[in-house]
Amino acid sequence: MAGGGRRRWRQVAAWAAGLGLCGAALALLAAVLLRAYGPRPPAIPRLWARRPAAAAAAFSARERLELREALRGAVKIPTVSISPEDLNTTALAEFGNYIQEVFPAVFSSKFIQHEIVGTYSHLFTVQGSNPEMMPYMLLAHMDVVPATPEGWDVPPFSAAEREGFIYGRGTLDNKNSAIGILQALEFLLRRNYRPRRSFYVGIGHDEEVSGQKGAKKIAALLEARGVKLSFLLDEGSVILDGVIAGVKKPVALIGITEKGSITLNFTVEKEPGHSSFPPKETSIGILAAAMSRLEQNPMPNLFGYGPELMTMEHLASEFSFPLNLVMTNLWLFSPIVSRILSWKPSTNALIRTTTAVTMFNAGVKMNVVPSSAKATVNFRIHSAEKATEVLETVRNTVADDRVKIDIVEAFDPLPISPWDDQTFGVHVFQRTILDTFPNVDSVVPGTCVGNTDSRHFTNVTNAIYRFNPVLLKSDDLPRIHGLNERISVEVYEKQVEFLFQLIKNCDIDKLPEPHSNSHEL
Ligand SMILES: *[C@@H]1O[C@H](CO)[C@@H](O)[C@H](O)[C@H]1NC(C)=O
Ligand SMILES: *[C@@H]1O[C@H](CO)[C@@H](O)[C@H](O)[C@H]1NC(C)=O
Ligand SMILES: *[C@@H]1O[C@H](CO)[C@@H](O)[C@H](O)[C@H]1NC(C)=O
Ligand SMILES: [Zn+2]
Repeated sequence: MAGGGRRRWRQVAAWAAGLGLCGAALALLAAVLLRAYGPRPPAIPRLWARRPAAAAAAFSARERLELREALRGAVKIPTVSISPEDLNTTALAEFGNYIQEVFPAVFSSKFIQHEIVGTYSHLFTVQGSNPEMMPYMLLAHMDVVPATPEGWDVPPFSAAEREGFIYGRGTLDNKNSAIGILQALEFLLRRNYRPRRSFYVGIGHDEEVSGQKGAKKIAALLEARGVKLSFLLDEGSVILDGVIAGVKKPVALIGITEKGSITLNFTVEKEPGHSSFPPKETSIGILAAAMSRLEQNPMPNLFGYGPELMTMEHLASEFSFPLNLVMTNLWLFSPIVSRILSWKPSTNALIRTTTAVTMFNAGVKMNVVPSSAKATVNFRIHSAEKATEVLETVRNTVADDRVKIDIVEAFDPLPISPWDDQTFGVHVFQRTILDTFPNVDSVVPGTCVGNTDSRHFTNVTNAIYRFNPVLLKSDDLPRIHGLNERISVEVYEKQVEFLFQLIKNCDIDKLPEPHSNSHEL
């Protein structure tokens, strides 16, 4: 009896456990299906209908020709930055004269003040008619990374036009913005437009080599004048068309933060000696082992702790089946998603602090054991980490006192800018994208893995957004800083249209009521 009773009890327990498990599995499945197919807020809150007619900038054929030529002329000026000390200052000065020549309305307007900052950078203050409204700022840069003709289909500073594209260094990074902003303003002024809300236009001259003499000085000047910005818009992200696997429609990705950076020098010093009686370990061997440990032990996967999670959540419903299921249920699938993201260097960069051994030098002679070996490693820091934490982890991974570590430069990841419907900048970007890009209906926040001039403006605003309104395909991305950088004429026209419309849209003084049904699509 006792034995039989125990057996039955075990049976009941097993059955109950099985049911419990089943129940949990069912609940899980139900939750998954509900989240995937149930009602969900759309990526763009549908507060307003698209207003294509109202928004059409309607540039004339003559203006379209003009805007194309203005960009081409700018690309021809070789404003190359090699290092903070090595800039083509002749070209930078020429660029200043050039904009004065092609944008006469901007330079003669009574309500626009133009200043040269740091010898070559430009700051425009556009006085709105209503001083009560908090100003905003549009930022861009005129300098470019070097380019030699090798490997290019056309010379990199020729601005040659081929099959609807303008080729040249700077066509995407970032003369399209520098010239595009001034172009939009020029067209608006010709239509006798005067903004209600004041704004600033900043054109830096040394962004590619850290912006210390250009953008940083502009930011310091604004700070000294007590300026507070409602938002700042700079380069850094784009509209991705067919770039994100599993998402069909183009997606406007807006950078709400940038990764930080720390660069470290590693040095091993040892007695030099003859190669005929070498020590067991040389400085080269010790340093190589340390570098290898850093590569074999990557910084932790931080998926879910930074804005990359917001990107996935905002995009979730745009994915095709079954990825939509996965992305709408990151609470369940995030371990798998984070694993998959770590496979490709481009997505791995989004989820962790990356480790790049960039320099390694030792030895001078074939038969001499060198006295020292040196290496340099650049880490790009994920939003959820700080430079000091990275340094600590690196020391623990290297775990060898013979390896001396020096800090070359370090800065923390940039603060995360607000992202919600009640943030003025976000509202205006969403509205302007709706107005100018009929095929785009996802506007999502993300992380910028590179750095921009905007990082110098944290003291004048907490709302910094990195977004270049250009529609790019996978094939376009490696051209930035690479070979055959180009922009399609159509894409550039759209960019100017976006900026034209953005400036007008910034004139609203109040955001529409949230959750209002009166303007539902
Ligand atoms: C610098 O720019 C000027 C044009 O402004 C150009 O003539 C010159 O060749 C450039 N220098 C170099 C080293 O590229
Ligand atoms: C780091 O190493 C680079 C390359 O050897 C050198 O130019 C630089 O001066 C070093 N910086 C520091 C802080 O050690
Ligand atoms: C912001 O202001 C603080 C305090 O004056 C200063 O230390 C810091 O360098 C400034 N940040 C930037 C990005 O200019
Ligand atoms: Zn740039």
